[in-house]
Amino acid sequence: MARMQATKDLFLRSMSAIYLFAFASLYVQIPGLYGDNGILPAKVVLKPDGRPPEKRFQGRPSLMWLLPGLGLDAQEGMDLICILGCLLAVIGLTSRRMRDSVLFALLWFLYLSVYEVGQTFLWFQWDILLLEAGFLTILVAPLHLRKWRPPQASQHDTITLWLVRWLLFRLMFASGVVKLTSRCPTWWGLTALDWHYESQCIPTPLAWYAHQLPQWFQKLSVAAVYLIECFTPFLFFVPIRNLRLFSWFSQILLQVLIVLTGNYNFFNLLTVTLCIPLLDDQFLGKNKPAIKSDSFAARVGRGLAKLVSFTVYAGLAYSTVRLFNLRINAENYSVESEIAFTDEDFFNGLRDIMPYTIWLGKISLGAEVLMALWRSISQEQGILAKVWSSCQCFVFTSVAIYMFTISLVPHCMVDQTASANLSPEVRQLHHNVQSFNLVHSYGLFRRMTGVGGRPEVVVEGSNDLNKGWKAYEFLYKPGNVSVSPPFVAPHQPRLDWQMWFAALGSYERTPWFINFAYRLLEGKPEVLDLIASNPFPEKPPKFIRANLYTYRYTSFRSGSPSWWKRKLEREYMPAISKETKGLKEHLQRNGIIQESSRKKAKSKTQEPQDNTLKNLLAHARSFFGVLTGPTLIFSLFLPAVVISIAI
Ligand SMILES: *[C@@H]1O[C@H](CO)[C@@H](O)[C@H](O)[C@H]1NC(C)=O
Repeated sequence: MARMQATKDLFLRSMSAIYLFAFASLYVQIPGLYGDNGILPAKVVLKPDGRPPEKRFQGRPSLMWLLPGLGLDAQEGMDLICILGCLLAVIGLTSRRMRDSVLFALLWFLYLSVYEVGQTFLWFQWDILLLEAGFLTILVAPLHLRKWRPPQASQHDTITLWLVRWLLFRLMFASGVVKLTSRCPTWWGLTALDWHYESQCIPTPLAWYAHQLPQWFQKLSVAAVYLIECFTPFLFFVPIRNLRLFSWFSQILLQVLIVLTGNYNFFNLLTVTLCIPLLDDQFLGKNKPAIKSDSFAARVGRGLAKLVSFTVYAGLAYSTVRLFNLRINAENYSVESEIAFTDEDFFNGLRDIMPYTIWLGKISLGAEVLMALWRSISQEQGILAKVWSSCQCFVFTSVAIYMFTISLVPHCMVDQTASANLSPEVRQLHHNVQSFNLVHSYGLFRRMTGVGGRPEVVVEGSNDLNKGWKAYEFLYKPGNVSVSPPFVAPHQPRLDWQMWFAALGSYERTPWFINFAYRLLEGKPEVLDLIASNPFPEKPPKFIRANLYTYRYTSFRSGSPSWWKRKLEREYMPAISKETKGLKEHLQRNGIIQESSRKKAKSKTQEPQDNTLKNLLAHARSFFGVLTGPTLIFSLFLPAVVISIAI
């Protein structure tokens, strides 16, 4: 049974690459985000609170609790974790023998460790998805202790890879369904893509072009998104190969289009990685197609599979036409569409279908288990090998059932009835391991934001309240209207991302924003490194303020040389200075500044330590920390790929 071995290995290799992107991208941002001079210092999370270390570890499982023992502060600790993460990821990318469950367990725990102290800047859906996928990767990877031998395929591989498929199913299905459960008018009106290309966090240059497409095409694209996210995921579990490959193609198509038009860091690449288990070695060219048997039963089987495939394709096409009322308009060569069901139809339909999704999971997992057992008994040579292989199947089946069971809690969140029908035991099981982030609920773009134009915060500084305001430009988010949107994925500029969320809310509800403004008043180089330009290179300004603008794309026809046009809406944050009333209290609460008495006491106790590890980390920081995120990522990734191809 070598049918899935190359596929599994490709999955493991891709997961290593994703970890590399995640750790390297974070590394360059640590001082500005989490250092003692950063926006949300990690030391605040680690401050002693009187609880014993084991209790704190249970609430927040992280290696960061071990730092004092190594003589490291919070920033150095995060540096160390990210460097170790990059190293292990490069090893995983390059060496097939080292790519085992121990390596992936370490990678997973390293990422969990930074996630736990990362606060707002690390709590994105893709960080959580990486943790969940990363945990499944530990199960998928071989426990390959005898490194001198090449790793072998196991019969239970299909069971663990099934868990990845189930995660992908939950991710896509929920992402499709929440767009409708949110009752967002643009998703219901199929007009979401009229706004999406412009209002998403960090568009690429191609998003500007996509925005200019005619409206009928945007509506048709939204219908296609529903088809790909809500319907084709059911084909992940179908035992007919061409239907499964079709579902793979549809997912890849969607992800490629998203990558071309938007910067979602490693998220789309991670989703593409989760799609790998839909493939097989034959598809990857690693296994010759099986010789077709000519027996009567085999021929009947093939005929039946063809019939089912045809029925499914026809059914998909027919339901798409009916559900979205597709009509060809011959006059202007377009296809008209709209949603042809009511929200009551939809909610009833969702309630009816949820139990089937759970049954689909149970039946397909059951089938994988039976087939793996059957292969253990029929294909392994010798009674010992048969027994050993079956035992492994039993162990991984138990783990798979456990993971599947706890995943039902987040899976059922999209529907109240399904959620209410879950047994208390299942909830308890899920609750017991919640702090480890093993499973999560997903759902992207629940509501379309930026309808009518994207809100954008522009931060400015001046030495005079009445004149001389100069804007701070960010590295990647829109600011200057004539600067082109960038391609920056798989790097994630986390400050730029949070600025997008800040613009959707208010500064009072965005505590980190005031810390950020204060760091600009102080002119902290760590924070200035996170943005593109410092308009006050000599001396930081006396005042910082922020205004809210609405940004729209320029249109194709206008012939304007700018990418954006913008309009001032209102003040976002009034001008503040270091003396502003209430600022000191806010900063003390956030641990940005210490109360003066404690500060003195602390500086007395702190002595300079001579610590080799500390020095090494400082060297690494002065060497790699000056690179931009994309540069660091590619200068690690490309050599690793070359090495892995060469050996
Ligand atoms: C905006 O960018 C353009 C092109 O890079 C530059 O010429 C211009 O001076 C910038 N405007 C401001 C206000 O910084």
